[in-house]
Amino acid sequence: MKHEIQRIGEETLKVLKDMESSEALQELKVKILGKKGSLTALLRQMGGLSPEERPIMGQVVNEVRSRLEQAWEERSAELEAIALEKRLSLERIDITLPGRRVPRGHHHPLTQVMEEIEDIFLGMGFQIAEGPEIESDYYNFEALNLPKEHPAREMQDSFYITEEILLRTQTSPVQVRTMEKLFPYLPVKVIAPGKVYRNDDDATHSPMFHQVEGLIVDHGIRMSDLKGILLNFSRQMFGDSREIRLRPSFFPFTEPSAEVDVSCMLCGGAGCRLCKGTGWIEILGSGMVHPRVLEAGGYDPKEVTGFAFGMGVERIAMLKFGIEDMRLLFDNDLRFLQQF
Ligand code: DAH
Repeated sequence: MKHEIQRIGEETLKVLKDMESSEALQELKVKILGKKGSLTALLRQMGGLSPEERPIMGQVVNEVRSRLEQAWEERSAELEAIALEKRLSLERIDITLPGRRVPRGHHHPLTQVMEEIEDIFLGMGFQIAEGPEIESDYYNFEALNLPKEHPAREMQDSFYITEEILLRTQTSPVQVRTMEKLFPYLPVKVIAPGKVYRNDDDATHSPMFHQVEGLIVDHGIRMSDLKGILLNFSRQMFGDSREIRLRPSFFPFTEPSAEVDVSCMLCGGAGCRLCKGTGWIEILGSGMVHPRVLEAGGYDPKEVTGFAFGMGVERIAMLKFGIEDMRLLFDNDLRFLQQF
């Protein structure tokens, strides 16, 4: 009987060490020490022992039982610790971590500059006009006094879709489209911002870029009006102390034509790397609207006059932000864009 008790003890100890759950551990305990447990059953048989044997047996049973109970407690503490550890690692929340910020974007530098240009001209009473990017040869060239075979067409290397349809190379076609729409209303006083396309691609040219066209038609519009409006624009865009100058130039749709320079925004006119020592920076083309263009728009050049201008938005943005390579504006690299 003594061996039987010790055998049960040894075997139970062995199984117990490998129990993986406290439920299984509890079941085992009932099977051995419970009312119908195997050790309990042996205890009951002690009644049949002799008075000498009984205390010895009693001691053996107690020893085995207390060893088992201790082992039970240890294993169940181990299992509890394992379970706790597992829960802690699964449910771990670091309340000291900062919240996750949703990244916030902003307008592209070109859009910012485009909107600033629009705001300045809206402030001077201009309205915004639009025209299609897929344009006819007529509006893009012919109506602007650039008949077929005119050598000045070569100034703009174009993407043709058919003989008669192309991606507009400039926003100037919106001039004639707008006059046609508004005639006989006066004054015509619009800007036309938008995308234009040319077969060019290098550090200062992109095949797609943006222009803002300007057009005023009314009785008695003079070149001094052009100069005043553009001086006002230049100061709002580049600073109060800017000056402008008009240089004679040629565009088929204006007569006379002028390139407009603004005093250098980096050196103030003294001469530096940006203005290549001249103190001036070219920002746009302009002139008095050619009589043929007014006619194409339906207006009588004997009655009214007008001025027009066209500026490149990328160029204005590059000057304003000090960007040296135009391609950066189209790479969509956030490290670049986030600086503006
Ligand atoms: N369309 C011309 C270009 O893309 C720019 C221009 C020059 C527009 C003179 C005008 C203007 O309206 O009067 O080069």
